[in-house]
Amino acid sequence: MNILLIGSGGREHALAWKLKQSPLCDSLFIAPGNAGTALCGTNLPVGITDFEALAKACKEHRIDMVLVGPEEPLVKGVTDFLTGVPGLENLKVIGPSKNASQLEGSKAFAKEFMTRHGIPTAAYAEFNADNYLEGVNYIKSHKLPIVLNADGLAAGKGVLICQHPIEAMSEFDLMLHRAKFGEAGKKVVIEEFLHGIELSVFVLTDGEDYVLLPEAKDYKRVGVGDTGLNTGGMGAVSPLPFADEAFIQKVRSRVIEPTIAGLKKDQLDYKGFIFFGLMNDNGDPKVIEYNCRMGDPETEVVIPRVKNDLVELLLATSGKKLKTVKLEIDERAAATVVAVSGGYPGDYQKGKVISGLEENLLDDTMVFLAGAKHEGDQVVTNGGRVFTVTSFGTNIDEAVEQSNYVMEQLFFEDMYFRSDIGYEFRSETN
Ligand code: AMP
Ligand code: GLY
Repeated sequence: MNILLIGSGGREHALAWKLKQSPLCDSLFIAPGNAGTALCGTNLPVGITDFEALAKACKEHRIDMVLVGPEEPLVKGVTDFLTGVPGLENLKVIGPSKNASQLEGSKAFAKEFMTRHGIPTAAYAEFNADNYLEGVNYIKSHKLPIVLNADGLAAGKGVLICQHPIEAMSEFDLMLHRAKFGEAGKKVVIEEFLHGIELSVFVLTDGEDYVLLPEAKDYKRVGVGDTGLNTGGMGAVSPLPFADEAFIQKVRSRVIEPTIAGLKKDQLDYKGFIFFGLMNDNGDPKVIEYNCRMGDPETEVVIPRVKNDLVELLLATSGKKLKTVKLEIDERAAATVVAVSGGYPGDYQKGKVISGLEENLLDDTMVFLAGAKHEGDQVVTNGGRVFTVTSFGTNIDEAVEQSNYVMEQLFFEDMYFRSDIGYEFRSETN
């Protein structure tokens, strides 16, 4: 079958790499892709939210299945759009409907959904310009720290953790009266700060049943020791020693299963990945956020650990046959370390030549390209997160060490990576 993958990050290179391994995959196209996806299939110069052009590409290349990587097209309704185009009625699209994608697209929607279905999450209230003063009073009487969330998508920047009420009131004012996050911040969800250890749990669901993918932890801060600004993610590890059977069983029964039952009850069409951003609060899972897609860089450790044929899994998802599927997971630990352009997540330069990609690769190590493109014979940087190195090991220590070793063999001007990925799970000697 012919498959179209939408997106251009390291996540999409990892997905493309896995899709291409399937004997069921005849031709793979990626819109718009990057220098890494170009090694697995054909990149198409089509933007992720150019729905008309995506539909045209589906017809032209006789696409049977579309897999949507990032959230933006999902929240804007790519799934409903494509299957509504005459001639594409039978297209299999892996990614939730526009309504169901509001689980990620609107914080208020997600909070109301969790409240309605009894899913554990932080206590909250929602405000807009009309009940601004109530919001100010809510902040004044709330214990600290207090969390302000822009309702809509704000490229990962819409969450503010405030340590002081004055700071919270000022940010609240900026969001509601000065459009700090534009449309996304016209509604604000204010919530309790959750304590504990964060982790990411992923499932693939057909709307009835689900398979549980390996859990992961990502490292969002740019600096060693979790310091500095938030980024899209500087690395990830899987599995997590603290996510034992008992904890995962609670995640299944208190979070995953009520979520899938809730989607069904609310008639929200969902065939695709659900990413649960969780807090482990003394052994009890609480949902920080839903994402309607896989994580990046979590995909780069989760997907390599899945032994099943990904196309088979996606076909079972589309055909509502996940009940019959048994996942096979590689028991080894996986770690991924992200190389970023100097200055990221602030300003950075592009166009730097990347060297060492073809040499020095070890067994069990994969380089997934992200903000990288071909320029003549060379691969040059084209974004903040440039590539990620995934390695396997018998434990997290070994996997991270191997990724760091490979990282040292790769180079572009002003390249930076965090050498302490997985630090909480590593032995003192490293
Ligand atoms: P998000 O954009 O929702 O992924 O949030 C970004 C990060 O902010 C999360 O990964 C958490 O580290 C933190 N965060 C968001 N909401 C809360 C909360 N209610 N309590 C504690 N931390 C939070
Ligand atoms: N790594 C976090 C995300 O993909 O949202």
